[in-house]
Amino acid sequence: MKTADLLITGGILVLPEGEVAADLVVRDGRIEGILAPGSEWATLEVIEADGLHVLPGAIDVHTHVRDPGLTWKETWTTASQAAAVGGVTTIFDMPNTDPVVANAEAVRQKIDVAAAQSCIDYGVYGVVIEDTLDQLLPMHEAGAVAFKLMLATDHARIPVPSDGAVLEALATLAAMGLRTTVHAENNQILRWREHRLRAAGRSDAAAHLEQHTDIAAVEAASRIALFAEWTGAKVHIAHENSRHSLPVIQAAKARGVDLTVETCPHYLLLSTEDGVRVGANAMRVKPPVREPGHAGPLFDALRSGLIDILSTDHAPHLPEEKRRASIWECAPGFPGVETSMALMLREVNAGRLTLSQYVRMACAAPARAFGLSRKGHLVVGADADIVLVDMTRRGVVTAAGLHSLGNLTPYEGFELHGMPVRTLVRGRTVALDGRPLSAVGWGRNVI
Ligand code: NCD
Ligand code: ZN
Repeated sequence: MKTADLLITGGILVLPEGEVAADLVVRDGRIEGILAPGSEWATLEVIEADGLHVLPGAIDVHTHVRDPGLTWKETWTTASQAAAVGGVTTIFDMPNTDPVVANAEAVRQKIDVAAAQSCIDYGVYGVVIEDTLDQLLPMHEAGAVAFKLMLATDHARIPVPSDGAVLEALATLAAMGLRTTVHAENNQILRWREHRLRAAGRSDAAAHLEQHTDIAAVEAASRIALFAEWTGAKVHIAHENSRHSLPVIQAAKARGVDLTVETCPHYLLLSTEDGVRVGANAMRVKPPVREPGHAGPLFDALRSGLIDILSTDHAPHLPEEKRRASIWECAPGFPGVETSMALMLREVNAGRLTLSQYVRMACAAPARAFGLSRKGHLVVGADADIVLVDMTRRGVVTAAGLHSLGNLTPYEGFELHGMPVRTLVRGRTVALDGRPLSAVGWGRNVI
């Protein structure tokens, strides 16, 4: 009889191509074998997964952990525990922390904090700004997995680079072979409209949506696709929220641009109409949740693969930072890493998605796009990043039940049907039945 560390028996494995009943053998943190149900192995530990689905852990390439510098909103401990409970086994952390991750030293500082606290695996983004274009390679050498380019932001320490600098950065990043995640909105349009709206005395939630007119997204998506085509760079459009961008994406992919695209649950499951329930200001997020009519086409695009990846844009803030009277003063974003999988399982139970489609968009596609060869798939040799899912389990989303510090959620009161019940990272259980287990510091950098 062969030996291994762990055997997961009786479950249904979910692969991008379909589902198969099989046992899974784990040894030294990797998947050692995928066997016909009931095979005999001598193992230290057996997890009985009868009636459960076995998925690869989700990979969220768009998470704002807030640590170092903004730790009242979230820390690596709380973010990684929220992720673990939510079935997410790898997160890529965005660079708008304090200090902003714009040089090799800041990359090292972020990795030190993550290594000390994270219970799941992680990647760290460096930022593309004009002042530190010479830092792209040093940041990668210091451990940055990918780069974030903000074509629009009002962050004081992330000035939007000129088109000249963007082209130069993309040429450098193309040579490095790394994919660049792009906040694709036209900054001049956003700044102009904000100025006009403020001058007109507008501070209501609808003003934020008017500021972020669809054409700002469409223009930036076309521009970055063109620049990617010209330079040969790999680009990834973050948080797509407008159906009007879809033809641009389709055309770019059709002519062979190395473009991947993500959207997030809030663009698929919410519209401006949810502002009545949640509080329109509290629902502020950049880019905004739009009026009804976008979610359907975005969901279709995600199912068809035109939108490749489901991310979360997990962006926690304290409730008091989100509930200010003027929309311009309300912190944009909300937590998402803990609720994303369960919300999509609800869609599976409602017949709007298959588990295989979910695995493709949340596990396989992000691993492929960002070169994580050992993650995102249940195959022999892969890291044993595994989530057991109970498609019959019911629950309710509440802020108090979330593990993030900034826990105000637009899904408050959403009834869940289908939930992750156990999460393993490289063979170690890091969350069980909605609770994080003590695994502080177990996480590793993915590169
Ligand atoms: C982000 C955050 O809070 O870090 N917020 C968001 O609404 N997506 C950053 C940002 O894009 O401004
Ligand atoms: Zn973000």
